[in-house]
Amino acid sequence: MPTYKLLLLPGDGIGPEVMAEVKKLIAWLNARENVQFVTEEELVGGCCYDAHEVAIQNETMAKAHAADAVIFGAVGGPKWDKVDYDARPEAGLLRLRKDLGLFANIRPAICYPALADASSLKREVVDGLDIIILRELTGGVYFGEPKTIADLGNGQKRAVDTQVYDTYEIERIARVGFELARKRRNKLTSMEKRNVMKTGVLWNEVVSALHEREFKDVALEHQLADAGGMQLVRWPKQFDVIVTDNLFGDMLSDIAAMLTGSLGMLPSASLGELDGRTRKRKALYEPVHGSAPDIAGKGTANPIAMLASFGMALRYSFNMDKEADLIDRAIAGALAQGLRTADIKSEGSKVVSTSQMGDAILREAEKLAV
Ligand code: IPM
Ligand code: MG
Repeated sequence: MPTYKLLLLPGDGIGPEVMAEVKKLIAWLNARENVQFVTEEELVGGCCYDAHEVAIQNETMAKAHAADAVIFGAVGGPKWDKVDYDARPEAGLLRLRKDLGLFANIRPAICYPALADASSLKREVVDGLDIIILRELTGGVYFGEPKTIADLGNGQKRAVDTQVYDTYEIERIARVGFELARKRRNKLTSMEKRNVMKTGVLWNEVVSALHEREFKDVALEHQLADAGGMQLVRWPKQFDVIVTDNLFGDMLSDIAAMLTGSLGMLPSASLGELDGRTRKRKALYEPVHGSAPDIAGKGTANPIAMLASFGMALRYSFNMDKEADLIDRAIAGALAQGLRTADIKSEGSKVVSTSQMGDAILREAEKLAV
């Protein structure tokens, strides 16, 4: 029986609450006896700052490197607004992404039929939606140097962030995009701002060249990122896979989340390069939503994005497609019963707590597994 090491990092706010539902799912999978997940848990984000004055400890980074997958909740909150920039909660997440080399962030936006009315858009626009935002995650303005605020000495300050991309960074994320598209509806849309940014010019050039060289069978389209944002809310079903840089991907994936009804629905996988020797990739799985401090501790958070993120771990890290499908179907099943957490409630549905939703999804999985 294969044994896998998982590092659980629940983080802040609703992170621990939604992670609790993943722990139930892990226990259920372990009890079925065709796989064994061994878990360890550590602090990250604001809670780690409170305990150790850093957003993530070196020991935890070492464990993340050694794990088969990292399962991440959420970080941040107003409590840590005044903390030093380098120690702010988000720094823990960014260090994980950068140090593990997790350049490919896959953010699927799927609109479950039962939820088409929870979206702020019309049912026909989102019903049956199934797209992927593929976000470059280790480059661009998030990590570019210089990144400074300088005092100009005349009562003025100057802040600089640097948007920078090398050919290889664009090429490797585009390759993931073409490969994902090939397994789906065979269409890749690349988004940048080549009309104002040099990185956009290079991005466009590199994606086009790779297409020409290796992926002519995939339909490639280019959109300016601002127009792309507009198209995402106008007619999102025109897309299959969207590949874009770190900052545009951050924004476009929040937009895509609302197409599915709630930020509480969007899972994500962050993957590194395939290691030629071990045939493994470093990987981290996290919901797209944040720590939601306003509802933390109330037991009302939606655990679906977190559970679906674990489903992505089964699919992308452990080759357990059958179990991953099972989780997706169990989520759809719980929703079809009319169960809703507060963020996705609608007329005639039954509002349930975080743990009731987790339990209902497990019960569905149990039914489907026989
Ligand atoms: C995300 C989040 C993060 C980001 C924050 C928490 C640093 O918004 O994963 O989309 O900006 O990448
Ligand atoms: Mg974001």
